[in-house]
Amino acid sequence: MCDYTITLQNSTDEAQIDKLLDLTFGTERKSRPSYNFRSGVPAVTDLSFSVRSFSDKLLGTLRFWPVLVGGETALLLGPLAVQPDLQGKGIGKALVKHGLNEACKMGYRLCFVVGEQPYYAPYGFELAKPQGFDMSVPVSADKFQVLSLQNIPLAGLPKGDLLPWEDTCAERIIQKV
Ligand SMILES: CC(C)(COP(=O)(O)OP(=O)(O)OC[C@H]1O[C@@H](n2cnc3c(N)ncnc32)[C@H](O)[C@@H]1OP(=O)(O)O)[C@@H](O)C(=O)NCCC(=O)NCCS
Repeated sequence: MCDYTITLQNSTDEAQIDKLLDLTFGTERKSRPSYNFRSGVPAVTDLSFSVRSFSDKLLGTLRFWPVLVGGETALLLGPLAVQPDLQGKGIGKALVKHGLNEACKMGYRLCFVVGEQPYYAPYGFELAKPQGFDMSVPVSADKFQVLSLQNIPLAGLPKGDLLPWEDTCAERIIQKV
């Protein structure tokens, strides 16, 4: 059992988050496919979460990045990381549940992730390629997953390649439900 709170991130968290991400993903992490969608694009501020202990130690981080799919702003979940000595205690699960719940409240309809299928399946993620989605960069088909956030069948949502988000596409942002 471990006591913690989930808070929105602020700029003072940045250095500690980078350190945690280097520790959990390695310093080569920026060569991963998802980073093609993060470079030069800010994370969604209201969907950037830290987990902190009551003594204010950073225990975990989760951010979401905007991406474009079929002309609509969707989300790319991650990076998600928990301090190695505290993994397996439910912190990652609490973060993902909280993040997806907030994303749903904000009106986003589609969320993607590149990660382990057994980890993300319990939240409802399914393989994205068979559903008509792809990444504009090489990605492993068994890791690229999609979730409909508003209980709309995927068949009724935009399809196609994920593209890096551009603010010139701001008018395409979120279709509120
Ligand atoms: C992946 C990670 C965020 C999970 O966080 P965590 O706090 O250890 O996970 P939780 O304790 O909340 O586990 C939630 C559930 O996922 C399961 N789980 C944990 N890691 C898993 C994995 N790699 N594959 C499948 N299931 C996993 C747990 O057994 C648990 O199952 P349960 O709810 O049936 O008990 C954490 O292990 C981590 O930081 N890993 C390194 C970075 C990384 O791989 N991030 C994810 C990239 S997509």
